[in-house]
Amino acid sequence: MTDNITAFELHRARGPFNAAFFSMMGPYIEWNVRRHKQRVFADLPRTVVELGSGVGANLRYLRPGSTLIAIEPNLPMHRRLRAAAERRGVHLDLRDRLAEDTGLPAGSADGVISSLVLCTVTDPAQVLTEVRRILRPGGTFRFVEHVVAPAGSPTRALQRALRRPWAWTFEGCSCERDLAGLLRAAGFARVEIEPYRLHSPFITFNTQIAGVAHA
Ligand SMILES: C[S@@+](CC[C@H](N)C(=O)[O-])C[C@H]1O[C@@H](n2cnc3c(N)ncnc32)[C@H](O)[C@@H]1O
Repeated sequence: MTDNITAFELHRARGPFNAAFFSMMGPYIEWNVRRHKQRVFADLPRTVVELGSGVGANLRYLRPGSTLIAIEPNLPMHRRLRAAAERRGVHLDLRDRLAEDTGLPAGSADGVISSLVLCTVTDPAQVLTEVRRILRPGGTFRFVEHVVAPAGSPTRALQRALRRPWAWTFEGCSCERDLAGLLRAAGFARVEIEPYRLHSPFITFNTQIAGVAHA
């Protein structure tokens, strides 16, 4: 773990707000991104490591009887995540850790997933280093994330204008990250990325990528 990664700072109001927001808005977000998740989260291994599981949006992509090692430092999410895992018949190994430093053994994971998390972690490059460390050779990191819009576009201007209130509301989330660039530079053996655009009212969040990085 790099020195600049500090512990997750839980805000008294925004922590519970985000847990409630993602519980309420989860079905709507899911409906928008389902096609991309169905593609990249198809045929997941029986044990999956998930970064920032939130309240369990991705449990539906695991087969009942699977194990989810959930790296989730936001404690107000834990109760809903536990309940959702129980409903789905998924064994939950919930860890109050950061994605930058999961504490998992090197080469121990067949599959790591994330959705809408690399936008929020403190150090996405360090997270990708950690993902490569914990994946066994041939293992995969599958992701669905929102990213910076093309330079000069109206969406890019809006992302810039709204960056502070957006980050404040969504616990440090940035709409200005070039995550495709970071993924390609992270040293994976092969990276497949599909960019796409949602048509939701959350305009700054509509530029997205989904894909698979092979260790
Ligand atoms: C926008 S939510 C997405 C939750 C879920 N993946 C989904 O798709 O609904 C971002 C999640 O990342 C978690 N998170 C933030 N910083 C993190 C970090 N450094 N390591 C792991 N998870 C983190 C938050 O607690 C939150 O659950």
